[in-house]
Amino acid sequence: MDAVGSRYKAVYDFARDKPNEFWEAVGRDISWFKAWDKVFDPYAGHFGRWFVGGETNTAFNCLDRHVAAGRGAQAALIWDSPVTNNVRSFSYAELTDEVATLAAVLRDEFGVKKGDRVMIYMPAVPEAVMAMLACARLGAVHSVVFGGFASAELAARIDDCTPVAMLAGSCGIEGTKVVAYKPLLDKAILLANHKPAHCLILQRPMMQAELTSGRDLDWSVTCAKAKAEGRKADCAVVASTDPAYILYTSGTTGQPKGIVRDVGGHMVALKWSMTNHYDVKPGEVLWAASDVGWVVGHSYIVYAPLLQGATTILYEGKPVGTPDAGAFWRVCSQHKVAALFTAPTAIRAIRKEDPDGALMAKYDLSSLRTLFLAGERADPDTVKWIGAHLGKPVIDNWWQTETGWPIAGNPVGIELQPVKIGSPTLPMPGYVLHVLNDRGEPLGPNTPGTLAIKLPLPPSVATTIWGNDDRFVKSYLSEFKGYYSTSDAGFRDEDGYVWVMARTDDVINVAGHRLSTGQMEEVLAKHPDVTECAVVGVADELKGQLPMGFVVLHKGVTRSHADIEAEAVKLVRTEIGPVAAFKNVFVVERLPKTRSGKTLRGSLRNVADGVDFKVPATIDDPAILGEIAAVLKAHGIAKV
Ligand code: COA
Ligand code: AMP
Repeated sequence: MDAVGSRYKAVYDFARDKPNEFWEAVGRDISWFKAWDKVFDPYAGHFGRWFVGGETNTAFNCLDRHVAAGRGAQAALIWDSPVTNNVRSFSYAELTDEVATLAAVLRDEFGVKKGDRVMIYMPAVPEAVMAMLACARLGAVHSVVFGGFASAELAARIDDCTPVAMLAGSCGIEGTKVVAYKPLLDKAILLANHKPAHCLILQRPMMQAELTSGRDLDWSVTCAKAKAEGRKADCAVVASTDPAYILYTSGTTGQPKGIVRDVGGHMVALKWSMTNHYDVKPGEVLWAASDVGWVVGHSYIVYAPLLQGATTILYEGKPVGTPDAGAFWRVCSQHKVAALFTAPTAIRAIRKEDPDGALMAKYDLSSLRTLFLAGERADPDTVKWIGAHLGKPVIDNWWQTETGWPIAGNPVGIELQPVKIGSPTLPMPGYVLHVLNDRGEPLGPNTPGTLAIKLPLPPSVATTIWGNDDRFVKSYLSEFKGYYSTSDAGFRDEDGYVWVMARTDDVINVAGHRLSTGQMEEVLAKHPDVTECAVVGVADELKGQLPMGFVVLHKGVTRSHADIEAEAVKLVRTEIGPVAAFKNVFVVERLPKTRSGKTLRGSLRNVADGVDFKVPATIDDPAILGEIAAVLKAHGIAKV
């Protein structure tokens, strides 16, 4: 079998050998107010910049141009919210109107202008999408923060990008719980050194927030007034190389990285991916069951489907419990979804509740062509289960917040490649992917190493870290000269298929959410009784990985271990947020170390996972591993 199809190969080779010609042609699919002077300038930025000199606007490309082309009456956004029992549809004309009005409010009430930062802390409601697009309309730079992060995390982001305004909801709904957002916002502003002057608050009926006079405005009231006055903002002319947004993601320290996406390259790559990877055409429906707080939500709830003139779905609910494990299939059937995109963890949650697919069988899924999975490793068991029950291709794709679109995937729109379960298939055109050893030398087939992308990076990949060029270079470009290091380990097989195995840093993936164990350690170290600590990601059947903490107490601390453990859990929840899913932490006498004093986190993880492993030769005292196992056993950790 020739695993790699000729059409894919032709496109891939063209993008690799003549990248400027390739992207120049693709770039014409976007509307520009002024064409670029150079499709690629190798001397600009950290690895070159795309579409230099071009001028455009993202909201114009997502909305106005489709209305002008006759798509005004087509659904642009469908909000499906089982937790509030609502389904609302916004046509392209309606969404354009809402966004232009909201942009006028930001401009007139708050003075938001091109280049200003605006932070968005909202649940999955249509106003969150409108907020992102309103910023794009003004050329303002949005930064969306996922609702599961706590005040301290929000405050760190406020201080990092110094927004002029905050857009927030009064509350979110998590399954059956109503989660207050506004008190978290108020506390974050209190904690932050930078004080945003304005907040626009969406009052949700299930929990109204108290507004701070002189700072907060009521979203609906203010927008209704602007609408009555007929105020709308035009699309600002924005340079292709200007920042479109900042999205914070976990790195190896407590300070999150503000990934900066540019305007032009972002649109070009995303629109290309809609046709060629996700195979969703204008007028069709794509549902990315994620949250706008994550990169999948930015790219495939908001920007890519709208750039394509498709219909997108924003879902406020869970895969299970809202009301049951048939919810995803109800949405697909009701809205005639052509492609569903979610994280493997959501499928595992559904499988647990509906192992025989009985709930799935209740719905007509004839419109659904493909299921895409990303955000974490797609474990073969889950892929096989869903593939068998759905009877449609299940496409794993591998990417990162930094890239904004798949590094590797199966280009369904070019030609579906044979699926090898467990592999996200092949590099996307534009990515020259090598596997490197520690010396930065490319390795041959089936040899594991670090997955690294040869520079220059294709359009849409992060251009820098907000306010920290040095950290960008240090984090991604310094490890291997001439390459971007993905910090993922893996290999390519004899057919060139990519296999992603594990992170090479301390990032873990919990329910498709990227978290830093280093950051959790920084939080645990703040507990007054803790002298040292380690956090590792242990295997979890539902969430893929879960963080587990180990703390050593100062000499002479006699307080109850259970109390200290409960306080440590609370500390991580307060400092990072419930999204960390940090529930397991154990007091231990000592941590396993090398003779030079480095904590052996890998060994801790192996003990907690209950797997056979080779004790590192450098370990100072192997007896410590037995002590750890005994503590875990005493706490009923089943695998040990
Ligand atoms: N706002 C406030 N709190 C939130 C939140 C939000 N937007 N999202 C999650 N949380 C809270 C949850 O309520 C939970 O709190 P708890 O500890 O008080 O119960 C905690 O954060 C952990 O949430 P989560 O990891 O989502 O666990 P869960 O048990 O609620 O749900 C799954 C488990 C598998 C159903 C869920 O994680 C899921 O749907 N995952 C899909 C992931 C995904 O879409 N990833 C995006 C990348 S593609
Ligand atoms: P995030 O930036 O939150 O999207 O997380 C990116 C990280 O998630 C990657 O570096 C990988 O470690 C992991 N990841 C994402 N998608 C996949 C996938 N399809 N297979 C394996 N790992 C993945």
